Amino acid sequence: MMQIFESKSRRQIPPPLDRYHSFLKHVLTPPRLQHSVGVMRVMGELAGVYALDHQRAMTAGLLHDAAKDLELERQLALADQAGIKFTYPCERHPVYLHAPASASLVSQELGITDRLILDAISAHSFVDVGENSNTTFSWCLRFADLLAPSQPWEGMRKLKDTAYGGRMEEAALLQCGWLIEYFEEKAIPLHPHLEANYQTLFVRLGVDGSFFERRYSSPLD
Ligand SMILES: [Fe+2]
Ligand SMILES: [Fe+2]
Repeated sequence: MMQIFESKSRRQIPPPLDRYHSFLKHVLTPPRLQHSVGVMRVMGELAGVYALDHQRAMTAGLLHDAAKDLELERQLALADQAGIKFTYPCERHPVYLHAPASASLVSQELGITDRLILDAISAHSFVDVGENSNTTFSWCLRFADLLAPSQPWEGMRKLKDTAYGGRMEEAALLQCGWLIEYFEEKAIPLHPHLEANYQTLFVRLGVDGSFFERRYSSPLD
């Protein structure tokens, strides 16, 4: 009986996140909502690794894709209402646009005013709208987006061990490198901030192409 109670309580979402979760049920598809809860949980874990505020980290994780299932026109309107000036044409592509649109939506509809959270949500697709775009908090949201439970993908365990091991710059470089590969494969335009982050980290860490090898034996296995 106790075991049943404990497993149920672990699934519950604590306030005020439960209110945000109820809102998301109206704007997200069930798979996207499930992904968002997964990102929230990973953010909660990364908060412990990187000494982030647990509540703020979980909030950003849960809300990061709030506008992603809305029509493109609505996303553009949300970005406009938030006063976002697009710096690059690619930022109108849904892959990038949904992030600032999500920040605008949760600001309007849920009264979120915390710049750390809003900037991280905007910046999770590399659209830079504020001073917090490349903070540890924002990088953790990008990691959590790829590390939330999903179909396993090649390299996921390596990124997880690197991010959870506190090696933020290495994790950031892996993520940038693999995202660039993925976007090129899918013919998605590359955001200049993604390329700039990749170049800066590649030079700073002094790595070569073998750094991005996806086959990997985890020391934790
Ligand atoms: Fe997203
Ligand atoms: Fe996401």
